[in-house]
Amino acid sequence: MTEREQLFDAWADRYDAHVAQEKGFPFEGYEAVVSEIVSRVSVTAGERVLDLGVGTGALAERFEQSGCELWGLDFSNEMLVRARAKCPTGRFLKCDLLGEWPNSLPLGFDAIVSGYVFHEFNTEAKIRILRRALRCLNPNRAIIIGDIAFSSSSEREEARRRWKKEWDEDEFYWAWDEIEPRLNDLGCSGTYTKLSACGGVIELRRTIE
Ligand SMILES: C[S@@+](CC[C@H](N)C(=O)[O-])C[C@H]1O[C@@H](n2cnc3c(N)ncnc32)[C@H](O)[C@@H]1O
Repeated sequence: MTEREQLFDAWADRYDAHVAQEKGFPFEGYEAVVSEIVSRVSVTAGERVLDLGVGTGALAERFEQSGCELWGLDFSNEMLVRARAKCPTGRFLKCDLLGEWPNSLPLGFDAIVSGYVFHEFNTEAKIRILRRALRCLNPNRAIIIGDIAFSSSSEREEARRRWKKEWDEDEFYWAWDEIEPRLNDLGCSGTYTKLSACGGVIELRRTIE
């Protein structure tokens, strides 16, 4: 097991209470970000939703209530135990998003969502995972990502100075001006919406069928 998996396993028990506090960096605006993801996804009963880095199911459970076919991927067993308890009809698979995705994961998702996960990955890894995710997405559908994110690298630098103590130098917080120029090559268009001093939502739509 990697150090990162161990870290998330150990956090699983306290995770929901931790994000609920929402104080300062990095979870300021967590509820606004998660609610915004949900409000942008309109799936009806039977449609397929995939949550990347599903964690304890804090985001995923809001989709289960719509009667959709809910899938989630995560590499932490302890997080997955909690997601399964929260969302009994969900299908949750252990998977490192940076590696091979399970063969049992179907194609044809009507929405792909992710909350507070992509900051684990540097820009090239983000692009690789997005490319993989876009292959699973139905035409005219969107990937909606909520995360620690900034409109530009200079805004991120300001935030880094502001939250010197809390900032994790091993993480890769989004700067939209670094990602937007890569979207054409990825075959999608996108928007970034700022929702708090350190959180926002990225929406990506396929432009190539
Ligand atoms: C901060 S939690 C977010 C949980 C949930 N999505 C939410 O909105 O609250 C990050 C999650 O991403 C998972 N994760 C981090 N790196 C991963 C990777 N390389 N592959 C799969 N899951 C990963 C962690 O195990 C953890 O459950």
